[in-house]
Amino acid sequence: MPDEHTMKVHLSYGDKTIELPVLNGTDGPSVLDIRSLYAQTGLLTFDPGFTSTASCESSITFIDGDEGRLLYRGYPIQELVQQSDFIEVAYLLLYGELPTLSERARFSEDVTYHTLVHEQISAFYNGFRRDAHPMAVMVGVVGALSAFYHDSLDIHDANLREIASFRLIAKMPTLAAMAYKYSIGQPFVYPKNELSYAANLLRMMFAVPSENYIVNPVLERAMDLILVLHADHEQNASTSTVRLAGSSAANPFACVASGIAALWGPAHGGANEAVLAMLSEIATKERIPEFIKRAKDKNDPFRLMGFGHRIYKNFDPRATIMRQTCHEVLNELGIKNDPLLDLAMELEKIALEDDYFIERKLYPNVDFYSGIILRAMQIPVSMFTVIFAVARTVGWVAQWREMITDPLQKIGRPRQLYCGKKERRFIPVEKRGR
Ligand code: SDX
Repeated sequence: MPDEHTMKVHLSYGDKTIELPVLNGTDGPSVLDIRSLYAQTGLLTFDPGFTSTASCESSITFIDGDEGRLLYRGYPIQELVQQSDFIEVAYLLLYGELPTLSERARFSEDVTYHTLVHEQISAFYNGFRRDAHPMAVMVGVVGALSAFYHDSLDIHDANLREIASFRLIAKMPTLAAMAYKYSIGQPFVYPKNELSYAANLLRMMFAVPSENYIVNPVLERAMDLILVLHADHEQNASTSTVRLAGSSAANPFACVASGIAALWGPAHGGANEAVLAMLSEIATKERIPEFIKRAKDKNDPFRLMGFGHRIYKNFDPRATIMRQTCHEVLNELGIKNDPLLDLAMELEKIALEDDYFIERKLYPNVDFYSGIILRAMQIPVSMFTVIFAVARTVGWVAQWREMITDPLQKIGRPRQLYCGKKERRFIPVEKRGR
């Protein structure tokens, strides 16, 4: 519970003056508690896009947009990337503390135990065209998981919530790899329980039954880092979607499917795919000024993909880490110079020297470099956002669990400013002269 700050805000409206409490968290902006505003004044607040609205209390992730800081349960993302790994970060996000060795081992077993999917799930893939976008497939098959787990649909039972959490986190890599295999007409590859989370995902994507497949440790490490960086990010659009769906007591598989749908948008998680398309369209450094110009033109819908952020008004720390990792992975893969990376770095340099971007504090975000690494790892562009969804499932599940157990939480039901017609009488069709 936030501590109620002694500060109050006094609001005068007509002949009334009311006071509203200010609530303090442990870091970041305090909040004005407006829950009694409508009852006291008949006024609603108006905040399209919720740019100034805290939708909940949360203890999971904290972003300081001005300083470019990102904490998972208080730990800076830089320290987690350097000293931890995805399965440990998943534990941290779910339970709030770093695991002991035995806790880690048990959690890893619990997740690994659920990596297989029901054989009938495979049939769902056959309903899709081979060239269906993998995110469309993921929305479908993850939503379909709810049809297979009646026994874990009682969201008010903590044990069943735990099993549903393991199932979602464990099965996402399997379903993601199946979406990829289906798109290229190769047989599905079963998970191997002795592999790490990241290695299993890579092997299920790239192994074929007819050959032995050894996961490249460089790629395993890079994938693990990408998963850690994308695991959670406060109340972003897809997480807010999961919370809103969950607030109606919908089952967690359907909630995560709604999160996948929201993440797909190019303004959100779909940006990593859009960055690659943009860089390919720009193609040469000589064409960068033309695209910078377009990005600044209000009459042109073109946006610089991978740039800007609702919260970060400084470098997205994940982008900084990702840029560093780009060089490491490309070097370790023996890719001497990647024209797309060179182009991206030149684009970043030019944009960050341009007043339009400086004034609006538009910096590269997590999606600006991630695609370059994924591409170097032979991940097809259409799978970029699927990889993002695999990672973010941990965050969605952690936030869903926090929402379900939050005593303050109610069904999400925003209001509106109605600007439609006042009440009027029905007109029979014969009298409807236009
Ligand atoms: C993710 O919320 C999260 O945490 C998301 C995420 C996560 O981990 O969950 O971090 C993942 O979604 C990262 C963002 C990926 N999306 C993109 O890279 C798409 C390109 N970015 C933009 O669409 C935009 O920056 C957003 C959507 C990310 C943020 O939009 P905002 O906060 O609503 O910004 P805005 O539209 O209010 O922009 C403010 C100004 C506007 O200009 P003015 O009206 O003030 O003149 O900046 C301009 C915008 O036109 N602007 C851009 C721009 N982003 C904002 N202009 C050109 N190119 C851009 N990329």
